[in-house]
Amino acid sequence: MKLSALTFGLTMAGLSHTVLAADAVDEHTFANLKDVVSTHLHLDLDIDFEDKQLEGFVEHTLAWQNSHARTLVLDTRDLEIDKILYQSPQGKWLPAQFTLAPRSGVKGAKLTIQFKHQASKARIYYNSLPQASGLQWLTPVQTASKTHPFMYSQSQAIHARSWIPVQDTPAMRTTYTARIQTPKDVRAVMSADNSEAFIKDGDYWFDMPQAIPPYLIAIGAGNLEYKEMSHQTAIFAEPQILDASVAEFNDTQAMIDKTNAMYGEYAWGRYDLLMLPPSFPFGGMENPRLSFITPTVVAGDKSLVNLIAHELAHSWSGNLVTNATWEDLWLNEGFTSYVENRIMEEVFGRDRAVMEQALDAAGLRAQLKNIPAPDTRLNLKLNGRDPDDAFSKVPYIKGQLFLIYLEEKFGREKFDVFVKGYFDAYAFKSLTTAEFVQYLDKHLLKKHPGIVSLNKAKEWIYQPGLPEDAPNPTSDAFNQVDSHMQAWLSGNKSLDTLPTSNWTVHEWLHFLNNLPRDLGLDKMAALDNAFNLTNSSNAELAFAWYMLAVGNGYQAIYPALDAHLSGIGRRKLIVPLYKALASTDRRDWAYRVYQKARPGYHPLAQGTVDAIFE
Ligand code: BES
Ligand code: ZN
Repeated sequence: MKLSALTFGLTMAGLSHTVLAADAVDEHTFANLKDVVSTHLHLDLDIDFEDKQLEGFVEHTLAWQNSHARTLVLDTRDLEIDKILYQSPQGKWLPAQFTLAPRSGVKGAKLTIQFKHQASKARIYYNSLPQASGLQWLTPVQTASKTHPFMYSQSQAIHARSWIPVQDTPAMRTTYTARIQTPKDVRAVMSADNSEAFIKDGDYWFDMPQAIPPYLIAIGAGNLEYKEMSHQTAIFAEPQILDASVAEFNDTQAMIDKTNAMYGEYAWGRYDLLMLPPSFPFGGMENPRLSFITPTVVAGDKSLVNLIAHELAHSWSGNLVTNATWEDLWLNEGFTSYVENRIMEEVFGRDRAVMEQALDAAGLRAQLKNIPAPDTRLNLKLNGRDPDDAFSKVPYIKGQLFLIYLEEKFGREKFDVFVKGYFDAYAFKSLTTAEFVQYLDKHLLKKHPGIVSLNKAKEWIYQPGLPEDAPNPTSDAFNQVDSHMQAWLSGNKSLDTLPTSNWTVHEWLHFLNNLPRDLGLDKMAALDNAFNLTNSSNAELAFAWYMLAVGNGYQAIYPALDAHLSGIGRRKLIVPLYKALASTDRRDWAYRVYQKARPGYHPLAQGTVDAIFE
């Protein structure tokens, strides 16, 4: 699909917006945006926990772009379409002709709807299927409360189409409203104004008045209670984890205030958090007004709250200024990782922010060795692959390092003006990497000539790997950890003389990640005896320790590792462990653990781990 300079005025709060990216070629959609754009959608859905399906209709409001067009093409995957009605220019509802093509590859099944007139509205009656890739359905025993079922969506990148027939491309934007019905004792929430959702009565209304790309339409439902943290922020969670979550994330308002001051006013009204079950395959998802959060970051000491800074940062980079295609993901994730770290610096200080940079940079450098070179470019070439298949730290941390590089070259003052100006210029729009390069050249490189050349910027964006002069964040605290580690490894110091009681989780992570993979069983046991790492309650620390232990063949972890793999579905914390185990003599053990854990994993995590054991 090629969109050439298509603009179309959408009046919203008195503003006119360009809703389509000018030169986007999104190979992951069937949508014919050149002919017609859905500017608003209304969902009317029943959440049926028994049959694990959503059932009802979606009504699209259509803005025709071409006077000859009579066809609307939508993306679907694993949907059953019952009937389609459309509203004629005279306001009558008439049946529309449609064909649902067989599923073709990652894009899913193309739904082509034929009208006799340029319909102003089209209503599609449908239901999702239990295997919908964008939904997870949990039985009561899989939840914290054990009493109520739970379900939630994860639409990024191309999974909205598995629960809504929609023009599923980040090159377009739409407003939405919804009426959602659930069993009476279940509360539903969405990425929208949730103020009608306070009375738990099984009937909920939502309104998202700002235009968003479809991958940000989100829903969750379960035994959800609610607690305010500040005038703008609250948490939805199962009662069992509500108070701990509030205590962990009570800096959220401070994060918003600091970000407002750096990058301009938060555009979305409230900022609430939805705590998901541990099977959520990501750390977080930036659904507007309501970020979805893994409970594995509730560590008790705020050591992992950079996740909140990250999802909040998406309220500027991603939700306001959006990647036009999934090959431009770094525009979302690289900017967000950069802003995340700036927020952490403001709220928790420079030392912690630099430690997080250093941990992330080390993680990137390790990954770069194992990713095919073409996939280490910021501007990805997906060539028809599912965006999930090329997912890595590259868009995140290489993107962040590029922006740190520019910040260091131009100085914070100039660079902040540039970033804020970019968010302002592209607010409520999508753009491609090529458009970004033009903007960068004009508003930063040429504005302050002789500092960074366009060629250098292009090297970062279009070439594989890291440029020679890429920033290499180093932390004084980590250097000290290194020297203590060396002293212990060379036998000059015993474990009990290391200053570990002052170490933060970050210093521990650096320590564990940098110990030799052939440390030997005596030293592994000594560490475990001294610090009880096998039973760490911090999911990231436990993960780092298990990785080291698997590499060393240290057996004492296995019962705890079984519990970790069975209890958590966050891909980042399980996939590397399965991969490591699969190439040891513990492969069969790991496969048995997986067979037990698999029903509790999200379809995305199931797919990833299935591929390891195939
Ligand atoms: N938007 C992403 C999650 C995502 C990316 C889902 C691409 C599907 C496709 C989210 O904001 C994210 O990046 N989460 C990270 C947070 C971390 C970097 C702090 C995660 O889940 O680990
Ligand atoms: Zn992100």
